[in-house]
Parts: sequence; C-alpha cells; structure tokens
Amino acid sequence: MRHFLNLMPHPPELLRDLLTNAARLKKAHEEGKDPNSLCGKVVGMVFEKPSLRTRVSFEAGIAQLGGTSIFIPGSEIQLGQRESLADFARTMSQYVNGLVLRVFRQETCDEVSRFASVPVINGLSDISHPCQAMADLQTIEECFGTLDKKTVVFVGDGNNVARSLAVACGKMNMKFILAAPKGYEFEKDFLQRLSVKVNNADIVETNDPIAAVKNADVIYTDVWTSMGQEAEREIRLKTFEPYQVNEKLLSKAPKHVRILHCLPAHRGEEISNGVLEGPASVVFQQAGNRLHAQKAILEYLLGGK
Ligand code: CP
Ligand code: NVA
Repeated sequence: MRHFLNLMPHPPELLRDLLTNAARLKKAHEEGKDPNSLCGKVVGMVFEKPSLRTRVSFEAGIAQLGGTSIFIPGSEIQLGQRESLADFARTMSQYVNGLVLRVFRQETCDEVSRFASVPVINGLSDISHPCQAMADLQTIEECFGTLDKKTVVFVGDGNNVARSLAVACGKMNMKFILAAPKGYEFEKDFLQRLSVKVNNADIVETNDPIAAVKNADVIYTDVWTSMGQEAEREIRLKTFEPYQVNEKLLSKAPKHVRILHCLPAHRGEEISNGVLEGPASVVFQQAGNRLHAQKAILEYLLGGK
C-alpha cells in the first residue's frame, strides 16, 4: 500500500514525477480541463488542528478531479481515544479510498497507515509537512526554471515545515541552510536518518541568519510557535527576535532572491509586512500550488497517473 507520510522514504524520481504531473495538472486546471481521475473515489479527511490551505486545497482538488471528500474534525473522531487507531483505520478503509490526516503526533499517522488498507496522506504533523514541501518545490522550480543546485535558506524554527523542506531539497540536489537559534536546530537523529537516505545531502545549520542568506536563492520562514506549542509562545518570541525576515536581512541576500512562507504568517514576528508584501515574495503563488501539488499526490496514490 502506498502512503505519503513523510518524504524521507520516497526516491527523487518519484518527487520528480510528482512535480512534473503537478505542473501538468496546473496547466490543465488553468485551461478548464481538469481530468476526471478521482471519479468515484471518496477521501476521508480527519484534522485535529485548524487549517485553511490544506483543508480547502484538498477538498477543492478532490472535487475538481471528480472525487468526493468527507471532512471530519478531530474532535468528532477523537483519534486513538474513542477507539484505537487500528480500529479506526480498518473501519475507515472500508468506507473511503484514501485518508488525509492532520495530527498532533506523527506517530498517529504512521500507526493509522500500518492498519489502513487505503493510502494515508500526512496533511501536517508535529514532525513533518510533506504536502507543503511538494508545493514549495513546485514554486521554486517555477521561479528559477530548475531546482538543481538552488540554495534554500530557512530562517527560524527547525520545525515540521523546515524538516520536510530539508528532505525535499536533499533529494532534489539542492542546498539547504537552516538558520535557527541554539536549541531550535534539527535533531541529530533526523540529520542522521537524512544522511542515510540521501547520499551527500547538502544540509548546513547555523545560528547566523545574515551569513546564511548571502548566497540564497530562496529565503523561507514559518511561524515561531507552531500549533501545539502555544505554551512556549512568550519564550519563543524573545528567542527568535533576531531571526525575523525583514528588509535588513533581505538587503544581505542576492537581488534575485525569492521569499517563501507556508502561511499563515504573523506579520511583525517571523516576517515583516514589507517583505511579505514586497516584490520578492511569492507566498500566494506558493499557497496556490498546494492545490496542484496535492492533486499530483492524489493521482499517484488513488489510481490516476
Ligand atoms: N500551510 C498550511 O498548511 O496552511 P494551513 O495550516 O492553513 O493548512
Ligand atoms: N509550523 C506550523 C505550520 C502551519 C502550516 C505549524 O505546525 O503550526
């Protein structure tokens, strides 16, 4: 059974195929020629956390490909509480053709996938956000015409979005730099697993955002306090202050640099309003690409292309 739980196990060739198909699906959509590749397919979506982009782009994408989605708030299902994840997975597999899960713990996704007989897609966990990373790659490729050897500098927290992007960059022969405060870098264990999966992955960590962006093609940031970390907000606001992506930091980067942010953004915290709204920003193109990147993932998993 194929799943899309994180990018680590997937070969570069698959990511390449997904990106090519995402570009094809984007063109088809813009021409009003969405294929009917999910005709008769039903996708169950269980979200334990809030969402705009992931929920709506999945629901819209499934509908545009001729399928149907059923959205169920996490509070309704109470994953792992009302009944075991194994019982949930085996029951749901008989009703739907695929599952999208947004969860507090990556283990929830992994455990459901062990018992599901339909594909499971991770729509964000505490550890990873693989669908976001696919839309990020699509956007970077649109900006530069290629991914090869491009340098992505993630400024901020070594979080779920950063981890998936680092894996994506490693797989696609790109350079990834994480500029994070001490204590918020990637875990040793994550870097170890990545080096096993990707030979010569070009991943660098630093505590100096100014030095990091010197040769950046892309500067990427995300919120300092992710969903589930609200109790740490005050301390994080202080710790991350020198890591704001603002006009001063942008002035240290090459002229051609592009700004990405997975959104939602906290203007005045991780990014200044001027940079988010400025000419280097492609954040809404990036948000739009969630639709197309996920359609490619759905076609791959649910029997289309
Ligand atoms: N970027 C992203 O996943 O947005 P949502 O939390 O709104 O889905
Ligand atoms: N790192 C953020 C991403 C939101 C899309 C979070 O997990 O809340």
